[in-house]
Amino acid sequence: KAEDGYRLWLRYDKIDDAALLQQYRSQIGSVSFENTSPTLSIAKKELLTGLEGLLNKKITGGKSINNRIVVLLKPKESGGKTTADYNPLGKEGFSILTIDKTKNIIVITANTDIGCLYGVFHFLRLLQTHQSIQNLNITSVPKIQNRILNHWDNLNRHVERGYAGLSIFNWHELPGYIDQRYIDYARANASIGINGTVLTNVNANALVLTKDYLQKVKALADVFRPYGLKVYLTARFSAPIEMGGLKTADPLNDSVRLWWKAKADEIYALIPDFGGFLVKANSEGQPGPQNYGRTHADGANMLADAVVPHGGIVMWRAFVYSNETPEDRFKQAYNEFKPLDGKFRKNVLLQVKNGPIDFQPREPFSPLFGAMPQTPLMMEYQITQEYFGQGTHLVYEAPLFKEVLDADTYASGKGSTVAKVIDGSLQNYSITGMAGVANIGNERNWTNHPFGQANWYAFGRLAWNHDLSSAQIADEWIRQTFGNEAKLVSTIKNMMLASREAVVNYMTPLGLAHIMGTGHHYGPAPWVSNAGRADWNPVYYHRADSFGIGFNRTATGSNALAQYAPEVQKQWNDSNTCDEKFLLWFHHVSWQHKMNSGRNLWNELCAKYQQGVDTVRWMQQQWSSLKNFVDEERFKQVQMFLTVQEKDAEWWRDACLLYFGTFSKMPLPINYEKPG
Ligand code: GCU
Repeated sequence: KAEDGYRLWLRYDKIDDAALLQQYRSQIGSVSFENTSPTLSIAKKELLTGLEGLLNKKITGGKSINNRIVVLLKPKESGGKTTADYNPLGKEGFSILTIDKTKNIIVITANTDIGCLYGVFHFLRLLQTHQSIQNLNITSVPKIQNRILNHWDNLNRHVERGYAGLSIFNWHELPGYIDQRYIDYARANASIGINGTVLTNVNANALVLTKDYLQKVKALADVFRPYGLKVYLTARFSAPIEMGGLKTADPLNDSVRLWWKAKADEIYALIPDFGGFLVKANSEGQPGPQNYGRTHADGANMLADAVVPHGGIVMWRAFVYSNETPEDRFKQAYNEFKPLDGKFRKNVLLQVKNGPIDFQPREPFSPLFGAMPQTPLMMEYQITQEYFGQGTHLVYEAPLFKEVLDADTYASGKGSTVAKVIDGSLQNYSITGMAGVANIGNERNWTNHPFGQANWYAFGRLAWNHDLSSAQIADEWIRQTFGNEAKLVSTIKNMMLASREAVVNYMTPLGLAHIMGTGHHYGPAPWVSNAGRADWNPVYYHRADSFGIGFNRTATGSNALAQYAPEVQKQWNDSNTCDEKFLLWFHHVSWQHKMNSGRNLWNELCAKYQQGVDTVRWMQQQWSSLKNFVDEERFKQVQMFLTVQEKDAEWWRDACLLYFGTFSKMPLPINYEKPG
């Protein structure tokens, strides 16, 4: 069916397990909503549509006594219908409780209508994934407050690093025409708890802040509001000059400050729940406070002051590095921001990419995590696959997200994981956030590769609850998206869980990074040394020579390791004990270096590249075995993409090994396939 991709994980087809269907049918007779609001109308429609699809029967809105699902807000007077404990639920959490076992009454309840909507989606997920709905006692509260998609979408609909068509936001037609897709987008986000969206690219010009465009933004905000999805915009730092006719954008200049205050007031008059601004400043050519000799804190605080009367926040990006600084790029964000800890307003979050460089298939966690106890740090992940085979490679990113969340910063001793830093529990942050650069476009199936949907899904689920494992999230996504047959679920899950490591192996094994084609970032180009900026050159990162390969970041090199806690340094600062996943991130190692496998480094590199290719071939076989389990359209699509991925994996392997072999001067292992 052509709509299979469009429906994402929100498929409510009739349950195909006859016994289970029978059981659910007997357990669910009617639905009642005790309160009304636009959000609750959405919840009601979702619940009725979902149940009618899954159970293939008409559900009444009546109040039959037994087998009822009741959705209600916290009752005004105590002693109401539920035994729920509302305090811990906060503004977005929910409980799903079986309150009467004999009459079989299930209550979905929350303090707020959006909490009820989240509860409804959770309840439907139980059925979609064939869970028991007997004696339910579920409470779920998000661990992170701001769970935000970052669209790198331009107003002309080109998406920077977007591989799924054009932007879904059609600015030309707004505000007059509301595409159904906006509603479906908001609904999909609500179903996984995403509660914010930055509509514009971090590199955007100031146009979106003009009066006419703000009307368009308002139209989107009005559509998204009942789904709990707040709208944010990027703020181009030089907007006061470009739009306001001022001579400067100096954050300490009174006219500039007044300009931003007035702009914020104008936005909030249209969109009272506007979320705030995301800013890329003094990075990759973008203007910022340093153009005026001011600090990042001065810039962020000016914007923070403008939005604070309205309850807004500023997400200031820590992705800064300069080609003019002779310092290792790895170290620059930390050097820039660490001294500013405690200097930001209370409504500022510093948005830090997961690793110190730039969304590589594998990076160590950014040393900023844990290093700024007085400044809320939020995580920035890249869901779109810029360095991950873009629109055509099957990569499940949850293992990458989890690897970073689970990493121990040792900021306050053992167990100081990155997850605890960003959820605020370690350093008592008052605001918390997680951002993901969106992989969504106007392709019929939203993400181009059907498995790209899993990454959008995993981002939302982890932002809500970072304790979930990659396998759990894959499991529920597969069941909702493809079906519940045991073979189908286990086969796809195994593929997904192996996929990220496969890409690491065929692109950048053993801690290599940033050796892709410059500019487009798709294929291999480790030989490039004239990219325009030294710090964009692959040779800057891999440093291969006749002795060996890798970037020495120990005390005898750039000493970036010193930015981590002593315990972390200890883990990584000896090339003989360093986790081999990170070896070449921190060490320049001889081609003869003996690896854990017993091979020397060169042979290990060859083996890893080959392993990456082999895993893709294995994924192809696995997928082929699912022909009778998946609809033809998605089956063929994934099959063709896997063929592309296999060719690309071979290309990466051959190009990298032929090139690195000119330094190692060692032969390819005997069983190595001849480059095609
Ligand atoms: C990467 C990406 C850019 C993007 C930048 C950023 O470098 O290639 O397109 O603008 O990250 O995060 O700001």
